[in-house]
Amino acid sequence: MDLRILAFLLPLFLPSALFVSTTAFNPETSYYLNCGSASDIVITTDVPSRKFTDDARFLSDSAKYPSLSNPSVAASSPSLYSTARVFTSSASYSFPINSSGTYVLRLHFFPFSGDRYNLSSARFGVNALQRFGLLEDFSAPTSTAPTIKEYFLWVDSHELDVTFAPSPTSSSSFAFVNAVEVFTAPTNLIKDEDSRLDIDQLSRQALETVHRINMGGPGVNDSLWRTWIADDDYLLDEFATLVKRTDPLKISYQQNETDDVAPRTVYSTARTMNISSSVRAIPNFNFNVTWSFPVVAGYKYLVRAHFCDFISQGFSTDIRFDLYVGNLRVQEIQGSAHVEHLAQAFHIDSDLEGPSSGTINISIGRDVARITQSNANAMLNGLEIFKVNNTSGSLGGTSNLPSNSSNGVPIAAVVGAAVGGVLLVSLLIVCVLVFFIRKRRRSKPLPLLPNESWSPFRETPRGNSVGRSSKSTEGTALAASLRVNLGLYIPLLDIKAATNDFDESLVVGSGGFGKVYRGVLADGTKIAVKRAMPGSKQGFPEFQTEILVLSGIRHRHLVALIGYCEEQSERLLVYEYMEKGTLRNYLYGSDKPCLSWKQRLEICIGAARGLHYLHTGYSHTIIHRDIKSTNILLDENYLAKVSDFGLSKLGPSFGETHVTTGVKGTFGYFDPEYFKTQKLTDKSDVYSFGVMLFEVLCARPVIDRSLSMEQLNLAEWALHWQRRGQLEKIIDQRLVGKINTNSLRKFGETAEKCVAEYGIDRPAFADILWNLEYALQLHVTELKREPHEDSGAVESQISVAAMRDVDSAGLNVDEANDRSRMTSEGQSDLTASIVFSQLVTDEGR
Ligand SMILES: *[C@@H]1O[C@H](CO)[C@@H](O)[C@H](O)[C@H]1NC(C)=O
Ligand SMILES: *[C@@H]1O[C@H](CO)[C@@H](O)[C@H](O)[C@H]1NC(C)=O
Ligand SMILES: *[C@@H]1O[C@H](CO)[C@@H](O)[C@H](O)[C@H]1NC(C)=O
Ligand SMILES: *[C@@H]1O[C@H](CO)[C@@H](O)[C@H](O)[C@H]1NC(C)=O
Ligand SMILES: *[C@@H]1O[C@H](CO)[C@@H](O)[C@H](O)[C@H]1NC(C)=O
Ligand SMILES: *[C@@H]1O[C@H](CO)[C@@H](O)[C@H](O)[C@H]1NC(C)=O
Ligand SMILES: *[C@@H]1O[C@H](CO)[C@@H](O)[C@H](O)[C@H]1NC(C)=O
Ligand SMILES: *[C@@H]1O[C@H](CO)[C@@H](O)[C@H](O)[C@H]1NC(C)=O
Ligand SMILES: *[C@@H]1O[C@H](CO)[C@@H](O)[C@H](O)[C@H]1NC(C)=O
Repeated sequence: MDLRILAFLLPLFLPSALFVSTTAFNPETSYYLNCGSASDIVITTDVPSRKFTDDARFLSDSAKYPSLSNPSVAASSPSLYSTARVFTSSASYSFPINSSGTYVLRLHFFPFSGDRYNLSSARFGVNALQRFGLLEDFSAPTSTAPTIKEYFLWVDSHELDVTFAPSPTSSSSFAFVNAVEVFTAPTNLIKDEDSRLDIDQLSRQALETVHRINMGGPGVNDSLWRTWIADDDYLLDEFATLVKRTDPLKISYQQNETDDVAPRTVYSTARTMNISSSVRAIPNFNFNVTWSFPVVAGYKYLVRAHFCDFISQGFSTDIRFDLYVGNLRVQEIQGSAHVEHLAQAFHIDSDLEGPSSGTINISIGRDVARITQSNANAMLNGLEIFKVNNTSGSLGGTSNLPSNSSNGVPIAAVVGAAVGGVLLVSLLIVCVLVFFIRKRRRSKPLPLLPNESWSPFRETPRGNSVGRSSKSTEGTALAASLRVNLGLYIPLLDIKAATNDFDESLVVGSGGFGKVYRGVLADGTKIAVKRAMPGSKQGFPEFQTEILVLSGIRHRHLVALIGYCEEQSERLLVYEYMEKGTLRNYLYGSDKPCLSWKQRLEICIGAARGLHYLHTGYSHTIIHRDIKSTNILLDENYLAKVSDFGLSKLGPSFGETHVTTGVKGTFGYFDPEYFKTQKLTDKSDVYSFGVMLFEVLCARPVIDRSLSMEQLNLAEWALHWQRRGQLEKIIDQRLVGKINTNSLRKFGETAEKCVAEYGIDRPAFADILWNLEYALQLHVTELKREPHEDSGAVESQISVAAMRDVDSAGLNVDEANDRSRMTSEGQSDLTASIVFSQLVTDEGR
């Protein structure tokens, strides 16, 4: 393993490993199945580690059900997800149970395509104990990570039966599963004592975990092999909050509570009010911190909020605040009412009927009329949301509405109103932001957004759809006004018409969120439609972020959002169509024509322009967080545009250096400093971009597990050769002898700086741009032997680049000449005007 990564991991995980070893959870009964495989596999990344064994002995007639292995995974490197058991007819696993109690059941689904069975097309139901419908007509999402479903079941029989049944809708359907876990739950996890709950005998219900969040991050894997994720994506107004941390060792538990309920690493971080927040300049900090979680309507939910007050100065003066679940005040929270001293953990359960809107709001805040203490604050450390089975024992419904919707209320109206609500808040935030941006802009000499409309799409050819949309959809006044204001709403009918009702032959890509279709709108605009997996709970925050980020900005090198749609459980994003697809496709792994060095440089320059704009064109930096070659798209002229803003974040505001957030992104492109510190800065994007530069040069995956250890990670491998000045040894074979040596050297140096270990040593995109332009110029001048041919603008940029570039040793004659050419104009003005004129021309599209 890469030593650097190990070094980063150690400080992160050592503390939790310590706790685990002192209180290791050891379930009385446990079954861990590696389905469809005859061999055992030990998962050492689990702490404590577990052995997953062969599943055949729990099936009554295992020979009937095929085992499948993933043909694209080498037999020598098996994983839990490289095999699966396929059920062509209804079949059950039977797990012997000796003592009655609550059991945890986890089902792992990670579809792949093997001989005869393409697991992505499986549709099936799963039930347990012949009583509880866990999944109905389920199809596992194709994603980069496995889908893991977790349930809590009360078992008082001698066997726990888990039955897989192919959906009856199609004769060829089948079911599958990659792994199954069954183990005894700790007895203090689900208890019946809580009289506040409106759920009879909580422990006798079937519960499904739908959200498990560590407020303030980071992601945590605990001793019950649960995963807690950071809360950033659910938080409605991040500026109004602060993350607080303490040493996990300072956290203590009460009698009867242990780290089985939630680990110390969860209690040791919290999201609190930003009491210096001027965004909400409300006297006495009378505001709420609110998270919004997608849920399926028609079910009851158990909401478990975890608290641990380590921020108050003293136990007698500890903070007091309110907890609201689904907009209802659950109770006043004050640690001293629940625990014996500061930094002791406790949790509060409450229940809630799933709102028809499909989201549950959780808020903390203080009502100043009641709570008058001066030590104002509110905090939340962790949160879990469990779905409770409905009266017919089902957990599997995915519709966002109760099934009895035949009373004439239009579904779209309800959904629309709810979505509208969430969007409205988001919009308000955007409006506030835009207001500030504009204010700032006015003081700048050059307009960054010459177009006064903050929603530039109003003037697009799609403008007429606004009228149509308000006629053709039955939204409420709120939703309708929202649509008109935004001008981005496209009715589902129009999108269906454009994509021939989501014709499979028009699919141009797929990913974690679902599929991408190409299509043509009635007005002739070519579009790409990103369609979230119908009914999927995941990706709602990404959906919102993407609309938010892209509706507020427009740039020649950022993929334009043409519209969006949310109707009848469909979530759709409509973009301009990018004819040539992803940059990755043109680098390796496809039969696409080889891009020349000039083309590659131009693409990198285009992408850098887009990112430069993202980082500097706004009052708050926007950090993309997921820069990689599959997120750079090419239009018919190979013009590069940055796409996929689902993970992007507003960066630090002025005067701050970073934002703290759960680590997100793509392995191999990841900024190690961000990984280590959880502090996200614009330089994290620079790191990923640097990795991508090497990828463009070498045309190989950034992580290639088929290669030897030292070659596995492209960034390290390339750095190794770059530092020896022999980068040309590992470049794309097809480019050998076709790159100007100086251009290659400039490019290599630029990429090297981008992947510097510390963000502070990495250049900003403005610098990267200059250097790449310079590399391009070195290449084309040599090729053409005609340095002034291209354009005057490029030449002056080059001059600036050369002038700024004081640290680049070993300049050749051409470069020296360039240096001497750059005399007359003033340096800083030129510097600024080139960048800004670039932005202006790009804007004026
Ligand atoms: C259940 O009981 C049987 C018979 O008493 C015993 O052989 C078996 O090991 C027990 N299983 C577990 C998981 O405790
Ligand atoms: C498997 O099915 C999915 C969805 O139906 C499809 O996108 C994918 O291309 C299929 N894979 C193969 C190898 O046929
Ligand atoms: C938790 O475990 C999952 C699956 O093994 C892994 O992908 C993830 O990175 C882990 N997260 C942390 C914070 O350890
Ligand atoms: C701990 O659990 C025991 C048995 O369940 C119970 O008698 C006792 O009152 C509990 N103590 C506290 C502090 O809740
Ligand atoms: C807290 O509020 C202050 C004042 O508005 C603001 O400058 C700061 O960015 C906020 N902190 C965070 C983490 O958002
Ligand atoms: C906080 O949220 C609750 C529930 O939505 C609401 O009743 C209360 O008025 C809010 N408080 C403030 C100060 O906005
Ligand atoms: C869950 O299912 C059980 C058994 O089918 C039933 O007794 C119980 O009432 C259901 N729970 C709810 C909240 O409807
Ligand atoms: C329980 O949920 C299932 C699945 O959505 C649904 O078919 C059934 O009608 C629901 N039962 C009740 C009583 O709502
Ligand atoms: C969630 O809270 C936001 C902000 O307070 C509000 O606008 C929205 O309507 C709420 N959503 C639900 C489902 O209550």
